[in-house]
Amino acid sequence: MADVVKIGLLGCGTVGGSLVGLIHKRRSAIEHTTGITLEIVKVAVRSASRERSCPLDPDTVTTDASQVVQDPSVDIVVEVIGGIEPARTLILDALAAGKPVVTANKELLANCGAELYAAADKAGVDLLFEASAAGAIPIVRPLRESLLAEDLSRVMGIVNGTTNFILSKMSLEGSSYGDALAEAQRLGYAERDPTADVEGFDAGAKAAIMAGIAFGARVVAGDVYHEGISQLTAADISFAKRLGYSIKLLAIAEKFGTADDGTSEIGVRVHPTMVPNDHPLASVNGSFNAVFVEGAASGELMFYGRGAGGDPTASAVLGDVVDAALNLRQGNYRRVPSGPKAKIRSIDQLESAFYLNVEVEDLPGVLSQVAGVIGGHGLSIESMEQHGTGSGARLVFITHAAAEHAMQGAIAELKKTSVVKGVAGFLRVLGE
Ligand code: NDP
Ligand code: HSE
Repeated sequence: MADVVKIGLLGCGTVGGSLVGLIHKRRSAIEHTTGITLEIVKVAVRSASRERSCPLDPDTVTTDASQVVQDPSVDIVVEVIGGIEPARTLILDALAAGKPVVTANKELLANCGAELYAAADKAGVDLLFEASAAGAIPIVRPLRESLLAEDLSRVMGIVNGTTNFILSKMSLEGSSYGDALAEAQRLGYAERDPTADVEGFDAGAKAAIMAGIAFGARVVAGDVYHEGISQLTAADISFAKRLGYSIKLLAIAEKFGTADDGTSEIGVRVHPTMVPNDHPLASVNGSFNAVFVEGAASGELMFYGRGAGGDPTASAVLGDVVDAALNLRQGNYRRVPSGPKAKIRSIDQLESAFYLNVEVEDLPGVLSQVAGVIGGHGLSIESMEQHGTGSGARLVFITHAAAEHAMQGAIAELKKTSVVKGVAGFLRVLGE
């Protein structure tokens, strides 16, 4: 006889709706491989009258989410509402009632992860969140399990589907920023408030989650330096293209030092980055994501796949649901590795190579004056191009890697230099 595990679903939008459809499609295959039948017995939504494309029994639907958590027949709670509250309280209540929880909520985990991990551990049940970082890509589980013993130094990648979709559309098809964002929203990639995507908050939350697990230290959203893509111009994109680079919104989490007790410094940042076209990340386009992981013994690993959208995300959620169901039946759970609060290295101290585009007067000695300012801040120039602009000249520099504060110091001084009309572009460049 089939062993039925009953699911309470919090939210039935892009991800929740796809999950309902996927459970219907995959039910017998899951029964066959695990002996478990998944049944959705309660679904909370905000609006009961909203039309939904997924098959939902109207008797299971409620607008009172606490009913899902309190229903004694619910074995596992899946949270795909998003945001901090009421998701946080609902998850804490579910865990306190001894129910495993699966969530895709990166904003919540990046802000309140420690509280939730501790609550799951106290209750002795699973808290699984594979879908919270990079959609369908298995990255949380590899970091939590397969790479648990590895000395990881860097986790870096493209972890926001919306911004990668927008940048790809602008760069490859010449779309406008507004049109590309509207399409990403229509396709279900964007957050309810797309500011979270385009200003780098969403990628920052994912970076915090991955850094915390990878480096065994507590990293929160507020620890992550972030810039988004809304300030990028078509000119930045075409300059990068001409120089042999693609602009990507990269999340970069690095550990400095080799201490094994979570006391090494950690730097976590999200910003548009010029990626050389021969680097594998440069060809990750559309809603695809990719994460590079570097370990002392493992070397480089790369994870690639769909980072956003209903079905890809529901695939990761469903994997967690089946895992939680099996653990529940076996009386097991897997503790989320957690450590002390991370020592954060500030953006000023983090290193990159840089692209700098300076508009100047076209006069004798100007190039050496500008190069002198750059060199005076300890920056070494790797390449330089000069173009006439009609009313002056444009100097485009790529530097070798240096600390952020050196470049910011150079920019501040250039802005005060009389022959400089303005700094028209500045981007970090991914080095070797
Ligand atoms: P949606 O906005 O499409 O869906 C949210 C759902 O939650 C809706 O069904 C909504 O009800 C319901 N809801 C909102 N507030 C309440 C409430 N107070 N009580 C009960 N139900 C409520 O979001 P997504 O499906 O896109 O995202 C869900 C989560 O998954 C978020 O944490 C998001 O960050 C994460 N995620 C999303 C991905 C994506 O590609 N979309 C990818 C990876 C993670 P109603 O339908 O009635 O409005
Ligand atoms: N809004 C997110 C993105 C969804 O575009 O990547 C997936 O987490």
